[in-house]
Amino acid sequence: MKLTVVGCGYVGLVTGSCLAEIGHDVICTDNDAAKMQMLESGKLPIFEPDLDGVVEKTRREGRLKFEPKVADAVQAGEAILICVGTPPLPSGDADLSAIDDVARLIGTVSRQPKLVIEKSTVPAQTGQELKRVLTIYGRKNNLEFRVASNPEFLREGTAVGDFLHPDRIVVGVEDEKSEKQLREIYKPVTDQKFNCPVHLKGCPPIPPPELIVTTINSAEIIKHASNSFLAMKISYANMVADLAEKLGANIDEVMHAVGRDPRIGPNFLNAGLGFGGFCLPKDLQAFVRLAERNGVDFSLLRQAEIVNKQRIDQFVEKVRRALWVIREKHIGVLGLAFKPNTDDIRFSPAMDLVNRLISEGASLRVYDPEAMERARHSLKNVQFGANAYEIAKDADALLIATEWDEFRNLDWDRIHELMSRPLVLDGRNLLSPGAMKAAGFEYYSMGRPE
Ligand code: UGA
Repeated sequence: MKLTVVGCGYVGLVTGSCLAEIGHDVICTDNDAAKMQMLESGKLPIFEPDLDGVVEKTRREGRLKFEPKVADAVQAGEAILICVGTPPLPSGDADLSAIDDVARLIGTVSRQPKLVIEKSTVPAQTGQELKRVLTIYGRKNNLEFRVASNPEFLREGTAVGDFLHPDRIVVGVEDEKSEKQLREIYKPVTDQKFNCPVHLKGCPPIPPPELIVTTINSAEIIKHASNSFLAMKISYANMVADLAEKLGANIDEVMHAVGRDPRIGPNFLNAGLGFGGFCLPKDLQAFVRLAERNGVDFSLLRQAEIVNKQRIDQFVEKVRRALWVIREKHIGVLGLAFKPNTDDIRFSPAMDLVNRLISEGASLRVYDPEAMERARHSLKNVQFGANAYEIAKDADALLIATEWDEFRNLDWDRIHELMSRPLVLDGRNLLSPGAMKAAGFEYYSMGRPE
């Protein structure tokens, strides 16, 4: 099927290239000319494992194209997938202006009826508005647009695998033809019939995903409800971690056992600096605002947000307790990205931590395996190290802010030698307290006995 993806952020790029990988003809477009130029020249604007290989292969095989003229790209597709950003407004509501722009353009330039699929995360009832705008702007050509909601559940860092091996595919539709088209689009995934670029030696036995058909309103709520629940789970684990710390229990042991209950599940119970990124914090806020506007008091979620914001304060207090005075101390921070395997620093707890320590007068050296380039644009008054050892040299403390595997596997004896004071504060519970003590470190983590 001929598909057009509008918006070449990480969702658009992963979606477009994976749809091409499973056999569709895909045109990706974006109104950011610089980004399109970069993509056309074969470079990717983001770091995402496995994505470069998929883009390179599908372009070479002629199924993936980048088209800088948005109107041309829109005209060419039988179905249009809207993957533009919906950033938070100061009120917490999602800014839907990019969706509105694309809808007006589709309505105006289309010459045939099309299926318009929302993939961007949007509040419930956006589909109705989308349909209204398409109808108004498409009236001159008397076109009937069909609208569907197909929320994405891609995690940065594992997005290609998530697309090809999803645990569910949700399609919100209001007519049979749209459902049929979406089933056809995802057939290779629901049948698990494609050459997997992630598992080169063969995929592990992963059950084929269920394609869940719902109304458009339900599909829109499913996305917000999923991300908000995940955020709540993390804040819950963080509260239990605080209590465990006070009572001399170990959060790892506690959550390991709690997560064995299949009604709870083992994931997203890792205590630490809290959740960040461009999805969980903004989706949580948008869901709370949507509830408020509809007379539903979702203070349960508001509390999850408050708990999350307090994580950095609490960690800085830990640093203060250990160092006594923060001002002018040489502090190394390992990790800037909001989570490992991405270069994304948007709403990153690690960046918040760095900014807090700068404002406290610390002398900071930072290192991240992938996010340095992005961080350079937004961090002033810090030194950037070429690796973890460079930032450990003469440091009074080393803080772990993102749980990259690379940090787990460092030569910690060498780091011990390099530091002025062998003090490590682990905001992600990445390392083993026993091993760190044995290596001679003063070591503090989150919700684990000191
Ligand atoms: C999230 C969802 O997990 C995806 O399902 C969804 O598709 C995506 O948002 C989206 O809306 O596009 P992502 O933002 O990539 O994915 O990141 P997550 O893996 O959810 O992690 C979010 C944050 O929570 C990170 O800062 C991570 O460090 C933190 N986290 C995660 C914890 O603090 N503890 C945990 O146990 C798990």
